[in-house]
Amino acid sequence: MPQLISSCNAPLKGEIKVPGDKSISHRALMLSGLAVGRSEVFGLLEGEDVLATAEAMRAMGATINRLGDGHWEIFGVGVGGLKSPDNIIDMGNSGTSTRLLMGLMASHDIQVLMTGDDSLRSRPMGRVISPLSEFGAEIEARDGTYLPVSIKGTGMPLPIEYTSPVASAQVKSAVILAGLNTPGITTLHESVATRDHTERMLSAMGADIQVDDHADGRTVTIRGEAELKPITLEVPGDISSSAFPLVAASIAEGSDVLIKNVGLNPLRTGVIPVLCAMGADVTIENERMLGGEPVGDLHVKAADLQAIHDLPVDPSTMIDEFPVIFCAAATANGISRFTGLEELRVKESDRLGVMAAGLQANGVAVEELEDGLVIHGNDGKVPGGGVVQTHLDHRIAMSFSVLGLKAEKPITIDDATPIQTSFPSFIDLMNGLGAALEVLD
Ligand code: S3P
Repeated sequence: MPQLISSCNAPLKGEIKVPGDKSISHRALMLSGLAVGRSEVFGLLEGEDVLATAEAMRAMGATINRLGDGHWEIFGVGVGGLKSPDNIIDMGNSGTSTRLLMGLMASHDIQVLMTGDDSLRSRPMGRVISPLSEFGAEIEARDGTYLPVSIKGTGMPLPIEYTSPVASAQVKSAVILAGLNTPGITTLHESVATRDHTERMLSAMGADIQVDDHADGRTVTIRGEAELKPITLEVPGDISSSAFPLVAASIAEGSDVLIKNVGLNPLRTGVIPVLCAMGADVTIENERMLGGEPVGDLHVKAADLQAIHDLPVDPSTMIDEFPVIFCAAATANGISRFTGLEELRVKESDRLGVMAAGLQANGVAVEELEDGLVIHGNDGKVPGGGVVQTHLDHRIAMSFSVLGLKAEKPITIDDATPIQTSFPSFIDLMNGLGAALEVLD
């Protein structure tokens, strides 16, 4: 495993563009793979997770070609046109690919075997197996919830009405995608609105989909057996990837960084008000629409950060950004308390346990709660000098790369490879701004 060493090297300066949004890239490949005709996508994220989705869609019949850097063309098979792959599908590290594709498979008359890496094989799939079984799919999983899974989709799916017990865009999207090839109306209720890229893209492609906000949350309905129109799409930069340079420039003294073309879907941007509530200097410039999603440029300058206790946003709007926010809290003035975050235990790693261990290994005092962390900020540099175990989690690796910028002694990350899943250009891009990240082979 190549180790990654992150040393203190302020300030960060310059202008960058982060790669395309991961959530939107997955959906672009899946939905254009079901459209009738040729779709074209620019700025697709070419990380391992999205490439796993491309491979799976190819295995089920879609024609997908890479034409250039981030530029892809897709010839869809039409809704209802997926075929059984002739081999096991390996989803690598990608929970989004696995859960959303299971949705598509459930309402097609196909049979699929899916597996993944050690991290993905430890993540619960019961949350999608349960509603997808109601459509009539027969799904068998190890211990009822873990990969490998066998999915026998149904050619005669029944529409369902489902209330998601967890705030999860993956569960919501799996149900909507199964509903896409199901006659009649499928209804999904969520008590907290989660990222709505699936709904936006389906609507842009001509599906009959409605979204209603009400006092108890949000209801999405989709009329199935639609024909999807192909799309030409430019994928905005990923706010979740932007969070790393955003926090890095906030904590590294004297920094001034412009992150261009970042997706600012309001159900994704919680990290910005949270950082600002901690005293960060972040401004949004040049707001506009791109590919049916709001985008803008993020201008961030270094600031003295304060601890945070009450989040001004719902956690689902920044669910992937907590690891790097925990690192920001470790450098802040005061004690931060984060609760209500039990979902973090079932991400690519147990992000509460793994973050607590990594911070403690680098001299930060942390109390681990069942549903959160209490982090004693160092009001400046953390001691550092520790080794972080990433447990195949890209966001753990990148978060501690950021913390190294504000550490007395370099921080060692045990494995740099998980970064390839979502942000292959991360190290070059950060070093281009002035960071000191070194991979040891
Ligand atoms: C995603 C939804 C979130 C997020 C993941 C991507 C998506 O997962 O953590 O990285 O693209 O729908 P959950 O639905 O499990 O919250």
